[in-house]
Amino acid sequence: MQMEPVLSLRDVCVAVRGEELLFDINLDIPQGEIHAILGPNGGGKTSLMMTIMGFSGYTVTHGKILFHGEDITHATITERARMGIAVAQQRPPTIEGVRLAQVLDYVTADDLVRENLTSRYLSETNMEGFLKREINAGLSGGEIRRSELLQLIAMRPLFAMLDEPDSGVDVGSLELIGRMINEIFSQDPLTPAKRRSGLIITHNGAMLEHVLTDKAHVIIDGRMACSGNPRLILETAGASGYEHCAACIRGEYSGVGIR
Ligand SMILES: Nc1ncnc2c1ncn2[C@@H]1O[C@H](COP(=O)(O)OP(=O)(O)O)[C@@H](O)[C@H]1O
Ligand SMILES: [Mg+2]
Repeated sequence: MQMEPVLSLRDVCVAVRGEELLFDINLDIPQGEIHAILGPNGGGKTSLMMTIMGFSGYTVTHGKILFHGEDITHATITERARMGIAVAQQRPPTIEGVRLAQVLDYVTADDLVRENLTSRYLSETNMEGFLKREINAGLSGGEIRRSELLQLIAMRPLFAMLDEPDSGVDVGSLELIGRMINEIFSQDPLTPAKRRSGLIITHNGAMLEHVLTDKAHVIIDGRMACSGNPRLILETAGASGYEHCAACIRGEYSGVGIR
C-alpha cells in the first residue's frame, strides 16, 4: 500500500512583500523520511520553511501545500502547529517576559518526555542555567540552537523543520546536536517502525554525518535545482560548489533541459 506523503508541495510560488522569492517548488516527504534542503545563502531555504509553517508575510501566490493530504495552503500558523508541524528557527526572536522553563513546561508532551528531557538533555546541553532566562535573551548562536532543539524534544512534533541547526555550533558540539536531532525524529507514534518525518536545512552538510537523511534537495535562486542522494549531492557540491546545480537549472548540460 502506497502511503500518502506527510508533506507535499505542488508548484508552490511564494512572495514576500510583493516580491516573488520561490518558484514552482515541488516536494514530497513520505512518512518516516527526513529530507535535507541544501543550497547557497539567499537561495530561499528559510523562506521555504517559513512558508510551510505558515508565518505571516510569506504569501503563496500559486500552488498548494498538503499535510497528510489536507490542503493547508491557507491554514493559520496555529492550525499548522496543532496538526503537529514545528520549526527550530535560525534566528528566533527574543521573547521578553517568557522564560525557557515556562515554554518547556507548557509544550512538554508527556511525563516520559519530561523525564528524558530533565535527566539527559538539560544537563548534557548545559542549559539548566538558562531555564530562568527569557527566551533567547542574550544567548549565543550555539545556545540558541540548543534552546530551539530542547523545545522540539519537549514538543515531539509529528513533522519538524530545522533551519541550519549546525550554524554557530563548534565542531566539538556537532555530535551532541546530532543526537538531539535524532531524538526529535525518533520513533513515529503512527508508524512505530519508522522515524518521524521532517526536513533539515543546512549548507555545509557536516550535520548529515550525524543524522541520516533520505533525500536532499538543492535550492538556488528560489528554484529547486536538484533532488537526490544526500551524500552524492554533497560530494559534488563539496568539490565544485553549487555551480553544477546552477548550470543544471539553466539547462546548460547537453540534452538535459530542465525547464
Ligand atoms: N522578509 C523578507 N523581506 C525581503 N526579502 C526577504 C525576506 N526574507 C527573505 N528575503 C530574501 O529572499 C531571498 C531568500 O532568502 P532566504 O529564504 O533567507 O534564503 P536562505 O535561507 O537560503 O539563505 C534572499 O534574497 C532574501 O534577501
Ligand atoms: Mg536561511
